[in-house]
Amino acid sequence: ALLHRGPDATLRLILRKPSHERTQEELELVFEELLHIPALSHLSTSIKRELASIIVFESHAQAGTVLFNQGDEGRSWYILQKGKVDVVIHGKGTVATLKEGDDFGKLALINDAPRAATIVLKENNCHLLRVDKEHFNRILRDVEANTLRLQEHGKDVLILERVAKQRGLTAFKYTVMSGTPSKMLEHLLDTRLGVQMGPNDDSFLDDFLLTHIVFMPVAQLVDELASHYHNDMDMDGNRSGADSPEDYDYLITCKKRVVQFIQRWVMAVRHAVFEDPAAAHFIEEIATDVESDPALQEEAGIIHHVLTQMSRYQEDRQQNAGQKWKLPSNGQPITLFSGNVTATRSIIRMDDDIIFRVYCADHTFCTLRFPIYTTAEVIKICAADKLQITANRGPEDLVLVEVKSNGERVIFKDNDLSIPTALSLNGRIFVSPKDHLDALTPLPEQEGATEGLEMDVEALPTKDLAYHMTLFDWDLFWSVHEYELLYHTFGKHHFNKNTSNLDVFIRRFNEIQYWVVTEMVSTSNLNKRVALLKKFIKLAAYCKEYQNLNAFFAIIMGMSNSAVSRLTQTWDKLPSKFRKLFTEFEALIDPSRNHRAYRMSVGKLQPPVIPFMPLLLKDMTFAHEGNKTSVDGLVNFEKMHMMASTMRAVRFCRSRHLVLDPPSPKNNDSQIRSYISCFRVIDCQKTLNAMSKKIEPR
Ligand code: CMP
Repeated sequence: ALLHRGPDATLRLILRKPSHERTQEELELVFEELLHIPALSHLSTSIKRELASIIVFESHAQAGTVLFNQGDEGRSWYILQKGKVDVVIHGKGTVATLKEGDDFGKLALINDAPRAATIVLKENNCHLLRVDKEHFNRILRDVEANTLRLQEHGKDVLILERVAKQRGLTAFKYTVMSGTPSKMLEHLLDTRLGVQMGPNDDSFLDDFLLTHIVFMPVAQLVDELASHYHNDMDMDGNRSGADSPEDYDYLITCKKRVVQFIQRWVMAVRHAVFEDPAAAHFIEEIATDVESDPALQEEAGIIHHVLTQMSRYQEDRQQNAGQKWKLPSNGQPITLFSGNVTATRSIIRMDDDIIFRVYCADHTFCTLRFPIYTTAEVIKICAADKLQITANRGPEDLVLVEVKSNGERVIFKDNDLSIPTALSLNGRIFVSPKDHLDALTPLPEQEGATEGLEMDVEALPTKDLAYHMTLFDWDLFWSVHEYELLYHTFGKHHFNKNTSNLDVFIRRFNEIQYWVVTEMVSTSNLNKRVALLKKFIKLAAYCKEYQNLNAFFAIIMGMSNSAVSRLTQTWDKLPSKFRKLFTEFEALIDPSRNHRAYRMSVGKLQPPVIPFMPLLLKDMTFAHEGNKTSVDGLVNFEKMHMMASTMRAVRFCRSRHLVLDPPSPKNNDSQIRSYISCFRVIDCQKTLNAMSKKIEPR
């Protein structure tokens, strides 16, 4: 009741007294009053009693009074009892007006961060209740509400949720659940990069850096960073200058945070930052400013380091410009793997060229050369023109299709990119009028083996095979950027980026798998087949030892293929020692309980590890399909967090470089290398089954 009339004189008097002077009776009166304050309604009686002794009354006569400034250290939490206040943010102006019953100033306290906004009294004679930081931390911090919403112009812009700290027993912190992209960035700069804060080791910053491309394109990010950096410009881009030393400090702090942000950004996604012209330009631009500001000496060092990395990257790009990847005679991207087998393979980039064939229904073909970024539509039109396929109404009548070795057809969308690298092992690209799709059949050669060295694998030492396969796979894995996981999950055309390196790595998985099957069913002599089966089990064991789990899975899955598992005569002759080993391995790749066996064992490994990539992709897809990207107009950051965790798993696997001791002196190294870099593979299950039945008719 008191609240509605405004606190009466007695109450004010009590609330102005220091705690030790408040009598029991007075405390009871304050407590009664606190029961009616909505901002405290979620708190228990005992906490309200504690508050009664420390809560302070404060009043201000003049509208326009600044209670505190954005960037200040947070000292108190406030409840507005009478009057109104404006919440003002640099570069945005007034974002909200708070009224009687609202509270503010909690954010800085719970995050140990500077004030996120300036509070200006909007009316004369405002009454406030105040809880100072020490009391807030002691009494309220750990019992605070679970969610905290920030609004601008009446709409939610940031929702934080309380989480228990991993370490530390009683303290809690708040993490971002959802928000608008720019408010999240603002919050991040305020709380995760501020110079005044202690170490805050949650993953918000890293999550944001890994996933922002989903909800905030680089161009927008750079724009926002620029306005945070140039906080001293007014709306018209004129330098408004700092009015006071505090203002000046604040502006310097903003600049420092942006520089630190850039540093962390480059650490998180490496060359992807430099690849974007807007980002590269922005870094160069602020570098000039940072270097000329004596207050930013430390930051000048940081930005200098970033610039060095950037120019090294650009030089490297220039040297490798226009790399060419080939799809040789029978149409597969063999040289994507082999190329120069002694050199380390380099990363496939958007503007690299790729040479490939496009077929039509009668199996005639044309050979095309295009950059990776070329869309399916361009390829379609060009191929149709070369092959003189006429469409009734025009290009929309034509389709570009992959025909797999089993005859399955997969139609490419017009805006699909990097088509050739995404083909299945023995798949071919076809162009056809839409209504003649049924006429497309695989080439006879597709049912046979891919190109590769015909060599007796029996003759090659198993450990050396595993060793070279691991080095090779490591190279492929190394080339995959974490971003490719996002492109793959959300669809690469959303980003206009390629997933070629990921495609090639996944393709390699299939290649190893079908190589095992192909070799098994091509061995007609029973004893030889048993020896080969033993060899593959040993090979899997070595791959596992080398922590090449991708190849390990592929080999075991190859042996579990129906064309191999049905070879009972062969399996019967397998020594029990090998059979036991295989059963053990099978248990490890068992997908039940969400691949629990694998997850448990990979969790114990230290990097370098080559992970089972298809599972990581599955985790990404699971996070994507099970969660909306945006909820009520805000980015669902929980989802971004899930995806970033998977991307971090990739990063962790590569956080130490692979160094292996060669198992034997280099005698037939180059032979093994050429063999493993391109296996001869049949990927048509029908052919494989037929071959299997032929060797063991049962
Ligand atoms: P704090 O950062 O401690 O100080 C400024 C306060 O303004 C902040 O806590 C919030 O309690 C309050 N506030 C209200 N709306 C917003 C908003 N949109 N952005 C930031 N702070 C806000």
